[in-house]
Amino acid sequence: MHLKPLHRVLVERRAPQHFSDPPPPDGVLQMILHAGLQAHSAYRVQPARFVVVRDSRKRARLRRAAFNEPCVGEAPVVIVAFGRRDQWRDALGEAFPLDVPAERLGTNRPDTVRPRASDTVERTPIRVWLHRHVTMAFTCMMLTAEALGWDTTLIERFDPTSVATTLSLPTDAEVVAMLAIGRATSVDLPEHDSRSLNHLVYSERYGEPWEG
Ligand SMILES: Cc1cc2nc3c(=O)[nH]c(=O)nc-3n(C[C@H](O)[C@H](O)[C@H](O)COP(=O)(O)O)c2cc1C
Repeated sequence: MHLKPLHRVLVERRAPQHFSDPPPPDGVLQMILHAGLQAHSAYRVQPARFVVVRDSRKRARLRRAAFNEPCVGEAPVVIVAFGRRDQWRDALGEAFPLDVPAERLGTNRPDTVRPRASDTVERTPIRVWLHRHVTMAFTCMMLTAEALGWDTTLIERFDPTSVATTLSLPTDAEVVAMLAIGRATSVDLPEHDSRSLNHLVYSERYGEPWEG
C-alpha cells in the first residue's frame, strides 16, 4: 500500500467541509483506527473510546447534533470519540494490576507506578485529561488517513447530549470530538496562510523571537 511521506502528509492535510460518497475500504479504516491506538497515552492508560458510525440515518442524526455541519452527514464514516469521567480508576487498575507474579515485575512496578499515575490524573481536571488523550489519538488517525489518501475533518462543535443519546453512550461519557472521514468533494481548498515561526516561537524567553 502506497503511503504519502510524512512531510507531505503534514503540509497537504486539509479539513474539507464537503465529502463525496465512497467509503474507505475496511482495511484502510482498520489502519486508521490502529493508528489511534498508537497515540501517546499517559502511563498507557488509553482512556479514549471510539464509536465508528457508518449508518446513514445515524450520521444524519449526528449532523443535526453538530448544528447541521455538512461534513458530518456527507462523510461516509464518522468516528465519535469519548471518555468515561468515572472510570479512570478502573482503567488504571487494568493498566497496572497489583496481582502480577513477582517474576513478571519489571522496572515499572505497578505498586509504585499506580499511585503516581493516580496523582497525575487527580491533579488534572478530568475533562482536560480526556480531551488531551482524544486529541492525541485523533491526530494520529488524521495523519494516517492523509498518508493513505483519505481526508478528515475534526468537529468539536456539537450538542454532546444528542450525540450521547444517538449512540447510547454511558451516562458518564464525556463526548470529546467527531472525526469525519472520506474523500473531499473539492481539491480547490484555499492555500494555508501559515504564520512564520518567529511569530509563534520564542527563544529562551517570551518576547525574544525564534530566528532559526
Ligand atoms: C480542535 C479542532 C476543532 C475543530 N472543530 C471544528 C468544528 O466544530 N467544525 C468544523 O467545521 N471544523 C472544525 N475543525 C476544522 C478546522 O476548522 C480546520 O482544521 C481549520 O479551518 C483549518 O483548516 P485545515 O485543517 O484545512 O488546515 C476543527 C479543527 C480543530 C483542530
